[in-house]
Amino acid sequence: MSVLILYGTTEGHTRSVAEALARSLRLSDDRVHVIDAAAGDPDPSTYGAVIVAASVHAGGYQAAVQRWVRRHSTELAARPTAFVSVCVPRPPESGGMTSLF
Ligand SMILES: Cc1cc2nc3c(=O)[nH]c(=O)nc-3n(C[C@H](O)[C@H](O)[C@H](O)COP(=O)(O)O)c2cc1C
Repeated sequence: MSVLILYGTTEGHTRSVAEALARSLRLSDDRVHVIDAAAGDPDPSTYGAVIVAASVHAGGYQAAVQRWVRRHSTELAARPTAFVSVCVPRPPESGGMTSLF
């Protein structure tokens, strides 16, 4: 099955996550494309499945990812999808980074 991994990143961590996912998926299928939402507008209807990855900054995901998902919501609803959220873990004994916002 062909897979699109559409990601958004601010400091580059989510790009690394997306590329690691792609390396794992390519072990079973070569048709895996990794595309930055800020640099392209891939058509999800040409893929069998879609993974969207984005990171949290000040409580929100990258605007380019949000726009892409809204633009292609009909095509996304018609195929298997997954969402990967990259953020700072919140230790139970502290407020973690989320307490800053
Ligand atoms: C300015 C800034 C704001 C952040 N805001 C949040 C936040 O609100 N919630 C959270 O869980 N993590 C927050 N983080 C942590 C990022 O989500 C985390 O560093 C992530 O790995 C960044 O991924 P990226 O490099 O792909 O953008 C923030 C990081 C920075 C630098």
